[in-house]
Amino acid sequence: MCGIVGAVAKNNVVPVLLEGLLRLEYRGYDSAGLVVANDGLHRLRTTGRVAELGKLANEQETLGETGIAHTRWATHGVPSERNAHPHYSGRISKIAVVHNGIIENYEIMREQLQAEGFEFVSDTDTEVIAHLIAFNLQQIPDLLEAVCASISKLQGAYAIAVMEEARPGRIIAARNGAPLLLGLGDTGNYAASDASALLQVTKNMIYLEEGDVAELTSDGYRIVSCLNGKIDKEITRAVHKSNLTSEAINLGPYAHFMQKEIFEQPGAVANTLEMVFNAQSISPRLFGNDAEKILSQIDSILILACGTSYHAGLVASYWLETVAGLPCNVEIASEYRYRDPIAGPNTLVVGISQSGETADTLAALNYAQSLGHQHSLSICNVAESALIRQTNLRFLTRAGPEIGVASTKAFTTQLASLLLLTVTLAKMRNKLSGERENEMIAALRHLPAALQLALQVEPQVKAWAEKFAEKNHALFLGRGLHYPIAMEGALKLKEISYIHAEAYAAGELKHGPLALVDKDMPVVAIAPNDVLLSKLKSNLQEVHARGGELYVFADADSHIQQSEGVHIIRLAEHAGLLSPILHTIPLQMLAYHVALQKGTDVDKPRNLAKSVTVE
Ligand code: M6R
Repeated sequence: MCGIVGAVAKNNVVPVLLEGLLRLEYRGYDSAGLVVANDGLHRLRTTGRVAELGKLANEQETLGETGIAHTRWATHGVPSERNAHPHYSGRISKIAVVHNGIIENYEIMREQLQAEGFEFVSDTDTEVIAHLIAFNLQQIPDLLEAVCASISKLQGAYAIAVMEEARPGRIIAARNGAPLLLGLGDTGNYAASDASALLQVTKNMIYLEEGDVAELTSDGYRIVSCLNGKIDKEITRAVHKSNLTSEAINLGPYAHFMQKEIFEQPGAVANTLEMVFNAQSISPRLFGNDAEKILSQIDSILILACGTSYHAGLVASYWLETVAGLPCNVEIASEYRYRDPIAGPNTLVVGISQSGETADTLAALNYAQSLGHQHSLSICNVAESALIRQTNLRFLTRAGPEIGVASTKAFTTQLASLLLLTVTLAKMRNKLSGERENEMIAALRHLPAALQLALQVEPQVKAWAEKFAEKNHALFLGRGLHYPIAMEGALKLKEISYIHAEAYAAGELKHGPLALVDKDMPVVAIAPNDVLLSKLKSNLQEVHARGGELYVFADADSHIQQSEGVHIIRLAEHAGLLSPILHTIPLQMLAYHVALQKGTDVDKPRNLAKSVTVE
């Protein structure tokens, strides 16, 4: 949930730390800080953003060849300078620590360390790590060994980077439950929460595994595992050449990452479906080598996900039941993990996540596996993520890095992948004729072009956005396949414009929420020309009759007329099963333009962060 960068080089690393933090700001932006070694440790911290930290570094002419840096999403302790990382400790030698994750036993550790005379100056769980390492350094004078001893006492998920005043020129990094990788450069070596932070200096990356502890110097690195608080053995990890490009992580001509990511959707979906474009038919091998064997055994699906990814799962449940004839349950991961669900031996558990590091999703999947579910599939956008490693089968959405906190291209690529899964399963279960399969492949091939067309409604959406900016509440309505799309539209609007928005299955309106409708309550309806359109029209009449202002996204052939209080934007002709993917686009744009009108921070909305690696 926070971003970490560490650098040890033969030259000044402050620009590398700052640039790295800028790239990681999507992970949290409540405060930022860094420390460098240069005749002692020099620490800068601010409750501002990374740009503010850069100004401080400039003013104070901060330089150093070893440093660690952090951008925070607050969990323990309010966003304040006092709680900003790096945290210090040290009696014999001063040390500094940056941390991403949560130390679950921090209260008890805090008491124990206080009893040892350590004074706590922040409200964070991280400070426990700093004091614990300092405590261990009193008996074990080597930082790597002291870190090994310390992490054996920590419970929870973390990635940390540590440096020491007495022996600058060395960083210790450790990973357990939160992402961390090493970057190997020509003039130095680096650590970071993700590859985008290090692309500025190297493409050679090592993805640390759970339990790895690394020692970095400007000349080299080593990775060890620890057992019972002691170094156990040296570990060899493969060096990967990152295929991330600077184009993928830069804004280019766009004003915001969210805008860039909305417009990248045709390409992102095309990349995700690339193997289908070249194929005559769809093969289960798309989901992994064992997919044919595993998928042929399953008789139901359980989807676990959070937020936008959960909405993708909800759409998929309609597809899987209707097209593949498979019962499908979709669960909010944070709820599932605390229930006593019954595990079916032939259920395929599908974890959906953009980041692959959402703590609730990982824990829910883990829980499902502990209950006896043997078959699992991840649909994820990050190849090296924990989620990908936790399942037997996997499908990578190839959306490219998604940096805006509001998920856009991850969602549409998840939907495209889930439709592919549906077609695969339907085919394996003899629910799909050859002719129907060809039709669906043709529709998928056409999807990028259809998305391109959907993007063209932007000027109309922009005009609507002006009206929404004055409102405090909005309702989103949909039916069937498009109810989850209404939920996604409401989530986007509330997330970045701070307008309170709720989604309802349109038929539910009369059972309560209709009481909310008046002239100040804009009602957005997703009204494709499907079998439920006539039902939806009746629901819209109920709103209209009560003075509600309707904003309807319809298909060109939906036959809904514009009138006083009924505004209509038409997409192309009804796209059948692909319709939810296309109807997502104007809803994303609506949220984006309303946020622009309101002047909120589109890419970094208040209180949020991109990857939620805590419970
Ligand atoms: O990385 P994930 O897909 O697992 O993230 C799940 C949610 O945190 C995420 O979709 C969140 O709801 C988005 N900010 C919504 O735009």
